[in-house]
Amino acid sequence: MPLPGRGFADARDSHRTPSELTRVMQLGPYTLPNALFVAPMAGVTDRPFRKLCKRLGAGYAVSEMVTSRPDLQDSLKTSRRADHSGEPGPIAVQIAGTDAAMMADAARYNIDRGAQIIDINMGCPAKKVCNKWAGSALMQDEALALEIVDAVVAAAAPHGVPVTLKMRTGWCADGKNAPTIALAAEAAGVMMLTVHGRTREQGYKGFAEHDTVAHIKSRVKIPVVANGDITSPQQARDVLQRTGADALMIGRAAQGRPWIFREIAHFLATGEELPPPDLLEVKGWLLDHLEDHYSLYGEFTGVRSARKHLGWYVQALPLPAGAAAVFRSRINTLTTAQAQLHCVREHFDAWASAPEQSMTREDNWKLAA
Ligand SMILES: Cc1cc2nc3c(=O)[nH]c(=O)nc-3n(C[C@H](O)[C@H](O)[C@H](O)COP(=O)(O)O)c2cc1C
Repeated sequence: MPLPGRGFADARDSHRTPSELTRVMQLGPYTLPNALFVAPMAGVTDRPFRKLCKRLGAGYAVSEMVTSRPDLQDSLKTSRRADHSGEPGPIAVQIAGTDAAMMADAARYNIDRGAQIIDINMGCPAKKVCNKWAGSALMQDEALALEIVDAVVAAAAPHGVPVTLKMRTGWCADGKNAPTIALAAEAAGVMMLTVHGRTREQGYKGFAEHDTVAHIKSRVKIPVVANGDITSPQQARDVLQRTGADALMIGRAAQGRPWIFREIAHFLATGEELPPPDLLEVKGWLLDHLEDHYSLYGEFTGVRSARKHLGWYVQALPLPAGAAAVFRSRINTLTTAQAQLHCVREHFDAWASAPEQSMTREDNWKLAA
């Protein structure tokens, strides 16, 4: 058995093999079913989507970030983000902010409301989080970043709650200080590090590089999670081989394609690709997703905020030419849950009974671009 918080083995002398990522992983006192994680994405990875990703093979999910500002803690947006009902644990809540005392309070506040793991956001490139530069901007001020880490660890420790940290490779190309922050965070008691292989300056441009992750992995003993531009089972294997990471985190590639986790798990375990899911199977997942989505947001907001998910789903499927565009334009006119559900059933049934799927997913993406 791995030691608590230590992943599978000593990171200095071990690289995980692909199939190891499909087996249990230890994070503090929690045993995760596997080491394939869904990334926190504000406005995307809400409770319904996290639940579906976990059902389809993700071993762990972190909530969308919640603000550390006390005046916003009771807002509808924040309370929805903090809603974990029915979600398989451990419940991990990501907090964002720029003030150490406020971040410590936010950790305690979320622990009191059921958070079992607290993740500190130093990865988000948004200009303003909590009305101040936060997220990855913190990486520019190492002293403040570590003050926050110390305060959050001190707040969580009495409750036995592990603290994790998600960051980028650094502030800019000449300031890749993630390895320095990683070592200091480990010394401060952080139990797992996730690294998105871009700098703050890059935003989402260019490609993620994973050499910095590999470097960090070679320096720390706590589990390291590689993140950025993993969009296929083959890329998952390549990133794993390049970094020796303890886990992989997938964000945008899971939008509209929550089954990517089981595809990656199957490939890492067997070396073989799973066939794409059956359209009727996807229809079932999608209908469950929508029902759960309406239950969190209510009908008015839920129907509207579900549209982006619906658009991503059809973009991810091999559909007849032009079908995704027709579907999207129809969905955007519907305003009730009943009509949206009916439209999904009708289209998926028609596509499933079509004689041949003439498009590949890649064709579909080109058409949507
Ligand atoms: C729409 C969107 C929202 C995001 N929100 C968050 C967030 O709340 N917290 C966070 O740490 N990262 C956030 N991220 C960054 C992702 O967690 C991830 O690091 C990034 O997308 C790179 O991974 P990928 O290439 O697999 O998408 C967000 C990304 C996107 C696209």
